[in-house]
Amino acid sequence: MTKPSAKSELIEVSSNPLTFHLHNSQVSYVLGVEDENILAHHYYGKAVDHYSNLRRYPRLMRHFAPSPEDIETRDFSLSTLPQEFPGAGGADYREPGIVVQFPNGSRTVNFTYDSYTISDGKPQLAGLPATFAQEYEAQTLTVKLVESDAQLELYLSYTIFRDLPVITRSTRVKNLGQQPVQVQRLVSFSLDSPDNELNLLQLNGRYAQERNVTIEPLNTGIKILDSKRGASGHTQNPFCALIDPHATEFSGEVFGFCLVYSGSHKSIIQMDGYNQVRIQMGINDQNFEWWLEPQKSFQSPEAVLVHSEQGLNSMSQSFHELFLNHLMKSKYSHQTRPILLNNWEATYFNFDEKKLQDIIASSHDLGIEMFVLDDGWFGERDAPNSSLGDWVVDRKKLPNGLKPLSDYCHNLDMKFGLWFEPEMISVKSKLYQNHPDWVLEVPGQRRSIDRSQFVLNLGRAEVRDYLLERMSYIIEHADLDYIKWDMNRNMTEVYDAKLSASEQGEVSHRYILGLYDLLERLTDKYPDILFESCSGGGGRYDAGMLYYMPQTWTSDNTDAIARLKIQYGTSLVYPVVSMGAHVSAVPNEQTGRMTPLRTRGLVASSGDLGYELNPLNLLENERQEVKLQVKWYKAHRRLIQFGKLYRLQNPFETTRAAWMFVSDDKKEAVAMYFNIFSEASSPLHMLNFVGLDPSQKYSINGKYTAYGSELMQIGIYPLTQNDGDFDSAVFELKAVE
Ligand code: GLA
Repeated sequence: MTKPSAKSELIEVSSNPLTFHLHNSQVSYVLGVEDENILAHHYYGKAVDHYSNLRRYPRLMRHFAPSPEDIETRDFSLSTLPQEFPGAGGADYREPGIVVQFPNGSRTVNFTYDSYTISDGKPQLAGLPATFAQEYEAQTLTVKLVESDAQLELYLSYTIFRDLPVITRSTRVKNLGQQPVQVQRLVSFSLDSPDNELNLLQLNGRYAQERNVTIEPLNTGIKILDSKRGASGHTQNPFCALIDPHATEFSGEVFGFCLVYSGSHKSIIQMDGYNQVRIQMGINDQNFEWWLEPQKSFQSPEAVLVHSEQGLNSMSQSFHELFLNHLMKSKYSHQTRPILLNNWEATYFNFDEKKLQDIIASSHDLGIEMFVLDDGWFGERDAPNSSLGDWVVDRKKLPNGLKPLSDYCHNLDMKFGLWFEPEMISVKSKLYQNHPDWVLEVPGQRRSIDRSQFVLNLGRAEVRDYLLERMSYIIEHADLDYIKWDMNRNMTEVYDAKLSASEQGEVSHRYILGLYDLLERLTDKYPDILFESCSGGGGRYDAGMLYYMPQTWTSDNTDAIARLKIQYGTSLVYPVVSMGAHVSAVPNEQTGRMTPLRTRGLVASSGDLGYELNPLNLLENERQEVKLQVKWYKAHRRLIQFGKLYRLQNPFETTRAAWMFVSDDKKEAVAMYFNIFSEASSPLHMLNFVGLDPSQKYSINGKYTAYGSELMQIGIYPLTQNDGDFDSAVFELKAVE
């Protein structure tokens, strides 16, 4: 492949006034140096070939809008100017991008433009996960701003990808003064826009019901979407989008924003009195302070900005492509994922070697490719109230250790995976007896407990070294192929007795940096292990974790009908191949609902298929059906995991859901349709396909043929008879002739 030089193709610089136009064939982003050397925002949206300064902000006298002291006119004020990175304490009364306390107690900070550099590719972010690119795939603009008293430098980094409508941004602040300063907020990006005809889309939720899609109009004031949990959390995914109020899946302008960070996060969306909109995203500044010694820097996490002029679906495809090719660093990122059976809902803590072997043998017979031993194999773990931290095999349950189970799988040509919850500690554990001080707590204060466990302080090197040593031992002795990395509570009483009083605001972020350090070392040391991230299901489903672990357990809710919404919402940002999706027994453990095995199979086959049930309890006809599901999934796995996803019908808006997966060459597609509630004398509903080649003839389920244009324009009747609630249908499309 020839590597075209990226120079001057993606980032155009013009002078008088100095303007930077980042553009590819899909997106343009323009910033420029304004009067008084302020770095202003001009434009972000659909690509334009040329930029002739049309969006230079008008000189306009506003009242109660302070100007710099030494200029004579009153028509220039930071209080209204769209900026690239607003300071604090000056004339801009909107949300600051940075808050720093200086040695004299001042928190006033304003930056002016200093210089810029452009480089091919994309530099890594020290200590943080971030998207990556080859030199010819992207170009990076770094703009240096300086603080008026020359005590701070700010580096704003912008990467534009050649083939995607994607800009990534991050911020680094450096202390040039003689004394330490305290950073109290540093957002990853700030974006101002005079456009205000926008709705806000967010992904919120709760345990077992993650990533609900919520859309609301923007109003004057401040909207905050955040997590203070020390994790990205079930309740608010670190993603949001500003969308045209008329945007649909396939039309309308959409701006998607996603933070590559797994800790407490905050998005601020502000509309001021002039209806100008500012959006910012970054580490949550609640309980956050970072000391910056002279000559030291603090690096913000990265934020990904995706633009779409064709609705939400196209935004999702851009996120998926970016994450697959430029974020998930695992060697498995482009490999199809094994169909697994996880014993959690099958046995909970109640198993022994024989029982597991029987489950493995039965799974093998069904065509399942990997067995995952979940919680309960270590310490004396018979309930959730003990042993976290004691990563030693429970010889009462497994007298011969893990190796015979692993060998048993390998002899059947199956893979063997294991559950860990490394970040946690039970009071009833040897680890706690030996290291009670490793817990995140305020000594002497009453602690909060959740699921009978506490959080280990991963900010400490000795804790990480212990975990690396223990996990390495098990990985090597049990010959693991896969690890499910769980995390079943959030942080409380965030404090580290080893740090000084004034450093306590660093603990939460130090934890996340520690987590990333441990993951970096572990994934580097064991590149052949497939990692799946989990936090009580999808409580830490974020781009930071995806960097290390190419799949995530989407939700503890395995109810197929609940999963329609959960997977729909998740797919807005995260690729299909990153979503763990399992068939479980009925009545469902979380909802008590009975759903047909076919529908359970299809919903789970919309991600990385697995089973979360005891195969020995299946009836003979169910076994046969599962065998067929497994066989079918294997035949369509690459298409589903790596094809283009089109969401066709939205379960948040109707009592139906549908989506399809289309191969890159459009020769093959699979569509799935779900009718949630059955109605008497039901009106007929159509299903229109998307993403096909209009002039291509396709066979549908091998039964009839039609052209792509017809299938997309006219559509089909997906269900014509009432087969009860939770019915579903699948359509396999294959190009013919
Ligand atoms: C969490 C996970 C489950 C299971 C249990 C085990 O809830 O999300 O899948 O692993 O922990 O305790």
